Amino acid sequence: MNTSRIALIGYGRMGKEVEKMAIKRGHTIACVIDNEADWAQKASLLNNADVAIDFSLPQTAVSNIRRCFAASLPLVEGTTGWNKDLETVISECNAAKKTLFYAPNFSLGMNIMFLLNKQLAGLLNRTNYRVSLTESHHIHKLDAPSGTAVQLLNQLIAGIERYSGWDFEGKQGDDQVPVSVIREGEVHGIHEVVADSAEDIISIRHEAKGRQGLALGAVMAAEFLVGKKGVFTMDDLMEALLRD
Ligand SMILES: NC(=O)c1ccc[n+]([C@@H]2O[C@H](COP(=O)([O-])OP(=O)(O)OC[C@H]3O[C@@H](n4cnc5c(N)ncnc54)[C@H](O)[C@@H]3O)[C@@H](O)[C@H]2O)c1
Repeated sequence: MNTSRIALIGYGRMGKEVEKMAIKRGHTIACVIDNEADWAQKASLLNNADVAIDFSLPQTAVSNIRRCFAASLPLVEGTTGWNKDLETVISECNAAKKTLFYAPNFSLGMNIMFLLNKQLAGLLNRTNYRVSLTESHHIHKLDAPSGTAVQLLNQLIAGIERYSGWDFEGKQGDDQVPVSVIREGEVHGIHEVVADSAEDIISIRHEAKGRQGLALGAVMAAEFLVGKKGVFTMDDLMEALLRD
């Protein structure tokens, strides 16, 4: 694997985790930009980098993306909360032949679970299995169920015709997938899909051990971008993992 010089944009919880993972995988850090003062003083250091990884703030993501486009620096965009500008940014990237990789969830393991869950839903379609989902997170998490849980539920609903929606456990009708939400301690995130029949039980479970799985996915995305132009997502990375 070729090593890259990585520009770290945003040096908060995720930026620091990405730095550790990048070094562990043999890359070097070309520069760290963590605020507007850094942009004023260090923007020229982007010229020493092969690729940038941005985990900053929703309100800074789009201007950071445009700064990387202007420097012709391939960018892995990890920041969330700028979806309203996504279509515009994709058009700008394609028109100017720049390089962008974005994902709302960079966790490699979680993306493997998405693939398995989609397959499971297709296989269960003409069977009598009843599916359910449980997700646990730390007590600070505000949304419930998590965005990841909703994505898993949507895959089940899309793949199994007898389901038309989801609802919280105990409230759901026969055509809805029940979801249980647990908020306790400092749990990093557990998602489990269970398929139950008279004969047996199948389950797929993902448990994050921290932010390192997210950092690994972002660094692998940076490695994937070498020599590419265009807009990419985790679907492209997963396809490359299966293919290569
Ligand atoms: N896509 C994913 O898989 C994923 C995973 C985790 C977090 N996130 C998202 O990543 C973002 C960062 O998360 P975090 O937990 O590291 O947040 P954080 O608050 O710990 O860090 C954000 C950092 O951005 C810096 N910053 C502020 N303005 C900046 C600018 N103009 N340029 C560069 N940096 C600037 C801040 O100084 C801070 O250090 C959030 O949007 C979060 O939702 C995405």
